Amino acid sequence: MPVVTWARRFGPKLFGHRSHGDGGAGTASRRRRLGREAASGPFGRPEYNPHVSSTKATQTGRVFQRVLGGELPFAARAEGATIWDADGRTYLDAAGGAIVVNVGHGRQSIVDAMERQARKFTYVHGTTFTSEPLEAYARAVGRHLPVDDPAIYPVSGGSEAIESCLKLVRSYHLARREPDRTAVIARWGSYHGNSMGALDLSGREPLRRPYEPWLGRFGHVSAAYPYRAGETAAHALGDVDLLVAELEAAIAKAGPGRVAAFVAEPIVGATLGAVAPPDGYWPAIAEVCRRHGILLVADEVMTGFGRTGRWFGMDHWGVRADVMAAAKGAAGGYFPLGLAVASGNVYETITRPALRGEGGGFVHGFTYSHSPVGAAVAGEVLRILETENLIEASAVKGERLLELLRGRLGGHPNVGEIRGRGLLVGVELVADRATRRSFPRSAHLIEAVMRHARAAGLLLYHGTGNADGTNGDTVLLGPPFVITDAELQRVVEILGEAVELAAAEVSAKLG
Ligand SMILES: Cc1ncc(COP(=O)(O)O)c(C=O)c1O
Repeated sequence: MPVVTWARRFGPKLFGHRSHGDGGAGTASRRRRLGREAASGPFGRPEYNPHVSSTKATQTGRVFQRVLGGELPFAARAEGATIWDADGRTYLDAAGGAIVVNVGHGRQSIVDAMERQARKFTYVHGTTFTSEPLEAYARAVGRHLPVDDPAIYPVSGGSEAIESCLKLVRSYHLARREPDRTAVIARWGSYHGNSMGALDLSGREPLRRPYEPWLGRFGHVSAAYPYRAGETAAHALGDVDLLVAELEAAIAKAGPGRVAAFVAEPIVGATLGAVAPPDGYWPAIAEVCRRHGILLVADEVMTGFGRTGRWFGMDHWGVRADVMAAAKGAAGGYFPLGLAVASGNVYETITRPALRGEGGGFVHGFTYSHSPVGAAVAGEVLRILETENLIEASAVKGERLLELLRGRLGGHPNVGEIRGRGLLVGVELVADRATRRSFPRSAHLIEAVMRHARAAGLLLYHGTGNADGTNGDTVLLGPPFVITDAELQRVVEILGEAVELAAAEVSAKLG
């Protein structure tokens, strides 16, 4: 059937031309898009599907968007720390998306590396082939990882990396003939991903809540969160001795030889907003784990690849993990990539030939693991980080960002704490600085901050629930390491205004 005839017969039904009757809420770009779809469908040649109704279309089209009920601009291009939309508006990307774009947007050399590999081959199965870019990348990245003699298992993102780490832990203890080591301890106020195992590890209550009936396999101890230390509802402690004692108590409660792993972010990112533990915490925790035969799993998904001003978060304390997860900055947003990393000891224990098939080996796998294109991209990202001294840039610019923020917002009555390491910086907002009381969740303070910032062309990352699992508002900044000083100043200027406007608005509403 010719496309034109097809479009006349089925087009309006298929693509839900509600825009003509939706009260004129559509933007110019949305109208343009719907116009294009009327002619040819979203992917060119449409197919007949009698079950697609015109009344059930989503507000902006057929995509189940991440943001419901809102209208998203169409991204058109991006470079450095700037994103342009289809209407020509610019956005200063102070969050690198979700703290991902460490090397900056629009890197031609990464696109070239991707293309070079893709022209040779894009996919071979991980059980059938290895590839030159993958072998080269694993060799090159190994020397930077806070893991001794590392073996690298590449996957497609942070959640997959965490799931893989959990299975590495289990496989290690099975190989050591300790099948009763099933307990895993994580921390409140953490985020490890949204797949079910990773979510169960996460101590991020707003994300857990809808799925709680399916969760509960893993235990949680307090966050190392000095700002809210001692607040019961925050599940937070700030004193190293207390934190260590609590972990020891959790291990004792699980029973001798029952705990398999302790999993934590070296510096907490998304849930609490760039919270570093007190010095002394990580060495002491690592000692407890080693003494009890518990594997230390470092979730470096957000903190890895220079984000905190060192190659990895654990490097701030010289602590080596047994198992590690990375993602985000590993490929900088140019490819969906995560890494599960096993220490030489963990790898050798699991893969000892004598044990294969009898409790040993690694029963795991994903269709898209060990991607040659992902490895080629990550290899070029790594080269850029090394040759452009971007880890040092993150450290220096992070200090500058903290200084600017403290100058602009340090005295604001609704700013509780400004903190962070390198270019992972958090601003915790409160209703009352003296008591640290936060605004009620229903006031939607952080949404107002984001809205005002976005209206002025600034993109931020945010968190909620840090104070007690429901209430609490944090802004998280994680710009590309190539951000200029003028751009840092602009970030702080717009954020300052956004906080002032939002806090005034919300305070007035609350009376
Ligand atoms: C520390 C940490 N772990 C795991 C994840 C999950 O990564 P992904 O969203 O790539 O699955 C995130 C994502 O924000 C994270 O910050």
